Amino acid sequence: MTQLPDRTHAAALDVADPLAGYRARFAVPPGVLYFDGNSLGPPVVGAADALAAVVRDQWGRELVGAWNSCGWIDLARKVAAAIAPLIGACADEVAVADSTSVNLFKVLAAGLALDPSRKVILGERENFPTDLYIAQGLADLLGGGVSLRLVDRGDLEAALDEDVAILMLTQVDFRTGERHDLDAWTARAHARGALMVWDLAHSAGAFPVDLARCDADFAVGCGYKYLNGGPGAPSFVFAARRLHGRLRSPLWGWMGHAEPFAFATAYRPAEGALQFQVGTPPILSLAALELGVAAIAEIGVQRLWAKSCALTSLFLELVEPACAAHGLELASPRDPQRRGSQVSLRHPQGYAIVQALAARGVVGDFRAPDILRFGFAPAYLRFVDVRDAVRILDEVMADRSWDQPHFHQRRKVT
Ligand SMILES: Cc1ncc(COP(=O)(O)O)c(C=O)c1O
Repeated sequence: MTQLPDRTHAAALDVADPLAGYRARFAVPPGVLYFDGNSLGPPVVGAADALAAVVRDQWGRELVGAWNSCGWIDLARKVAAAIAPLIGACADEVAVADSTSVNLFKVLAAGLALDPSRKVILGERENFPTDLYIAQGLADLLGGGVSLRLVDRGDLEAALDEDVAILMLTQVDFRTGERHDLDAWTARAHARGALMVWDLAHSAGAFPVDLARCDADFAVGCGYKYLNGGPGAPSFVFAARRLHGRLRSPLWGWMGHAEPFAFATAYRPAEGALQFQVGTPPILSLAALELGVAAIAEIGVQRLWAKSCALTSLFLELVEPACAAHGLELASPRDPQRRGSQVSLRHPQGYAIVQALAARGVVGDFRAPDILRFGFAPAYLRFVDVRDAVRILDEVMADRSWDQPHFHQRRKVT
């Protein structure tokens, strides 16, 4: 077993933590050390009652009238306006609808339509697969020479030539947590005449993002990770205001029409990012997302990021000796400015180790082929959680308790 400092130091950090009080706002089950808020954030306390009230008092009493009387028709716009400051955007630049995958499809198609002379979407081979699939499928659908060019991270700059219509990047790598420089890549894309599309799935709600400063063209991101919107929460989509006059979503739905209830025969897009809404918004999911976003906005992304840095530096300080003792490798950059709010480790038996940790209450996740991923959502994670998780990891490795048949059995979701 590795020598670990006792809990006193971590406990003192919790006492001094200005965000400590916010933990009570999130429903983290007792006994769980939750390092997977980067996959699915927990509900805010009161979410269950709030959703029950929507069903009982709004849907149950007002029925269809609730679209007006309870403001359902404006809820997506309201949530979009609450997300906007978290990503450095204005309210009319953000819409909340559908999944990140679907929104990526919309912005890639809209971006390609802005300059038909350029036909290449440039991306990273290691990007999250849905981004790759959506771009492949779109290229296949459009034909006419549109293609997806995938390269390794180190070759991106050389591949950014005058054929590239769109540079599509995910800011935080889902495996390693390595972070791209939003400003630098957006500037490089623009300097070569390409548009910049960011996937902010692991960014929004974790650290400050300034889309206005970097002058990005489009962005998408998840509602269910650091925004705590619940499983399958609607995603957000950003389109810079300077593009609004020329913007053309590929999916023309009635909720993206300028006047849905005019029931006009011809499509006329709503102003701004609102045209990215397509069909009827999912009110129950939006109600949950509204609560999650409000909690994160109240704490503030600057303070969240400051605590994230403190949590991950404690984790690294404690985990690195354990890694050395047990053949685990650090897969994330040490410098917090070069990564998101996660730290990943590598081990050939990563899957079984993650299962064994979960059985002891330490919930992280596994990403093939060999990544043990630990997310640090500072709104509810404590310094003692970090210390206890490292102790349990050390024990699981030292006694090889991960090496039991049931921990090797692959489940559908890893
Ligand atoms: C970087 C990234 N993009 C997109 C997605 C998928 O988003 P959605 O399920 O909303 O389509 C994920 C999911 O984890 C992700 O990590």
